[in-house]
Amino acid sequence: MTPPSVFASYPSLAGKVVLISGGAQGIGAASVEIFALQGARVAFLDLTDEPALALVDDLTPRVPHAPLYVHCDLTDIPALQSAIGEISTILGPPQILINNAASDDRHSFAEVTPEYWDQRMAVNLRHQFFAAQAVAPGMKSAGSGSIINMSSISWLIPSASLAVYNMAKAAIVAMTRSLSHELGPSNIRVNAVLPGAILTEKQRRLYMSADYEQHLFTVQCLKRHILPDEVARLLLFLASDDSSAITNQSHVIDGGWI
Ligand SMILES: NC(=O)c1ccc[n+]([C@@H]2O[C@H](COP(=O)([O-])OP(=O)(O)OC[C@H]3O[C@@H](n4cnc5c(N)ncnc54)[C@H](O)[C@@H]3O)[C@@H](O)[C@H]2O)c1
Repeated sequence: MTPPSVFASYPSLAGKVVLISGGAQGIGAASVEIFALQGARVAFLDLTDEPALALVDDLTPRVPHAPLYVHCDLTDIPALQSAIGEISTILGPPQILINNAASDDRHSFAEVTPEYWDQRMAVNLRHQFFAAQAVAPGMKSAGSGSIINMSSISWLIPSASLAVYNMAKAAIVAMTRSLSHELGPSNIRVNAVLPGAILTEKQRRLYMSADYEQHLFTVQCLKRHILPDEVARLLLFLASDDSSAITNQSHVIDGGWI
């Protein structure tokens, strides 16, 4: 069964500057497309140039504002701060931040070293905090903002070989609740999104198997794959003025798994 094909548009997103981390592939790429189709001025950060530039080429003829790609390794915080400065100079300060980039590499509990732990936290958690810190002053000056932090249901379901990733994803919910209080007085909303199993290209290539599919269709209420666009449409709503009173929340999108 496929999802329906007629969807909402959000006039409040037209012309808005939207910053998406990890926008070259997966849910991030679906989000770059869906925000650009709403008429937003989208900037995205990634370190995989080939899919990033292909996405820009694909979207440029069909959206009001061509997306801006800036190469950035998000584990390098000074580089992230400088990339956000560059984007603010070119497009104006972001009013919407989608903290999306992550990497769910499997790791054996026994083999995690302090260096690997730090690296996983840098890829999956640390940049979200510093991206929020960097965009907050511009959102305060604009009088509003929406920050959406991608967590996961992975730390709420039985899962092995992902301990450090899961710790980062749980901390993202704690960060969301802290920052929503820090920034709420400036009318900046902060929400977390917790996807379940989303059928991205990478998930299909590395992890999807007949057994896993059968497991998913047992545990989920919906007996089908959940697609990146379906997550991106939740992000549209949380970024738009249609969700103007929603902050400090965790939004699960998992086809009814947890
Ligand atoms: N796909 C799922 O099933 C699923 C489930 C739960 C949560 N999530 C979360 O959703 C978000 C998107 O996941 P996805 O499945 O689309 O991932 P993906 O691997 O398909 O895409 C992630 C993007 O982030 C980029 N990236 C990774 N490390 C980076 C770095 N150091 N600097 C810059 N860019 C970097 C990658 O190059 C890639 O383009 C993540 O936060 C992930 O944890 C995904």
